[in-house]
Amino acid sequence: MRIVMVGSGYVGLVSGACFADFGHEVVCVDKAEEKITALNKGVMPIYEPGLDLLVGNNKAAGRLSFTTDLGPAVEAADVVFIAVGTPSRRGDGHADVSYVYAAAAEIAQSIKGFTVVVTKSTVPVGTGDEVERIIRETNPDADFAVVSNPEFLREGAAIDDFKRPDRIVIGLSDDRARAVMTEVYRPLYLNQSPLVFTGRRTSELIKYAANAFLAMKITFINEIADLCERVGADVQDVSRGIGLDGRIGAKFLHAGPGYGGSCFPKDTLALVKTAQDHDSPVRLIETTIAINDNRKRAMGRRVIAALGGDVRGKKIALLGLTFKPNTDDMRDSPAIAIAQTLQDSGAIVSGFDPEGMENARQLINIEFASGPYQAAEGASAVVLVTEWNQFRALDLSRLKSSMAAPVFVDLRNVYRAPEVEAHGFTYHGVGKAD
Ligand SMILES: NC(=O)c1ccc[n+]([C@@H]2O[C@H](COP(=O)([O-])OP(=O)(O)OC[C@H]3O[C@@H](n4cnc5c(N)ncnc54)[C@H](O)[C@@H]3O)[C@@H](O)[C@H]2O)c1
Repeated sequence: MRIVMVGSGYVGLVSGACFADFGHEVVCVDKAEEKITALNKGVMPIYEPGLDLLVGNNKAAGRLSFTTDLGPAVEAADVVFIAVGTPSRRGDGHADVSYVYAAAAEIAQSIKGFTVVVTKSTVPVGTGDEVERIIRETNPDADFAVVSNPEFLREGAAIDDFKRPDRIVIGLSDDRARAVMTEVYRPLYLNQSPLVFTGRRTSELIKYAANAFLAMKITFINEIADLCERVGADVQDVSRGIGLDGRIGAKFLHAGPGYGGSCFPKDTLALVKTAQDHDSPVRLIETTIAINDNRKRAMGRRVIAALGGDVRGKKIALLGLTFKPNTDDMRDSPAIAIAQTLQDSGAIVSGFDPEGMENARQLINIEFASGPYQAAEGASAVVLVTEWNQFRALDLSRLKSSMAAPVFVDLRNVYRAPEVEAHGFTYHGVGKAD
């Protein structure tokens, strides 16, 4: 199959490289010239484990190429995926689908022969209908079908998720498109990955419902964690105790500083807006958003409390800045709200992240250190914000030796209190009675 991927960000680049690895001929398009120039030089514009190797191998094999020129690529394509961003629209929180519609109009101009246009971006219900309308209006002679195929990969494990998905959701009504999509995903289908064929609107909603459910699950355990602290229970044991129940499942039951990232915050909000527009409010999700928004700053206040309530002039070190490990993505990371809360209270904040420093510089104004021990120098507390492997086996004696006061706030429950306290620290976890 000749595939074009419009948008070469986290989703487009990973999906494009994986499709090429399946043996398809893939052209990744992006309008950001610097991204395409970098990719053509073999430099990855994002950090994702294993991506450089996958891209390099498939480029060398002649199956994967990069361009800013959408027209010729689309002319030759059997399938065109739209994988552009759908951020929150400023002001009202609806998903901003303007990039999707702009891409659809551009694609329409170059369609030749039967072409399947697939929205891989996360888009509100009805977006596929509008994409279809735009293409028909722009190019009335085009022979095409519009399909919804939302992506469920997780940053940090994106390649594995794409190649071994729990399911592939495909929303369509056109038989020719169904045959093409089956061919596109044949390697996974042969590998027993379930293909869920459904209507386009249903497919669009499945993605939002999935993300909203996961956000709600995280928020649930975060509230239980707060309760654990009040009643002298341990949230990690509660998670295990409920997670072993097959009806509940163990995943997404890790208490922490609240969800962040490029998907959950904007997708939960967009779902709430869609639901309100249709007079069918999703109150569980509205509440989830409110709890999570409050939680991020509450984590900052928790650090202040751990330091006795006054942090003016004190240095506090954040270990990990990205919203989760193994990515450089800083979008809506809890570290942003935590840093700001601490700074608002007069603290001097330092921080280190293995991959997210460059993106963090655009969003927060803290002292950026060259490593965890450097960040902790002179600090009155270290706060483990993101559970990078590198922070799982810190030399606690070394860490403490350069600190002004030995306070360790572990927002991911990576450590056990006794092992940290044995090094002379005061330890604060999440969902554990201090
Ligand atoms: N990041 C994730 O983990 C993830 C997971 C599942 C789904 N999604 C969804 O996938 C979509 C893309 O997310 P992302 O994180 O990859 O975004 P991103 O911001 O990393 O990448 C989007 C890319 O699209 C490019 N672009 C925009 N308009 C274009 C156009 N007309 N022509 C060519 N290129 C264009 C941008 O320059 C950018 O490089 C979003 O809808 C998101 O919700 C993301």
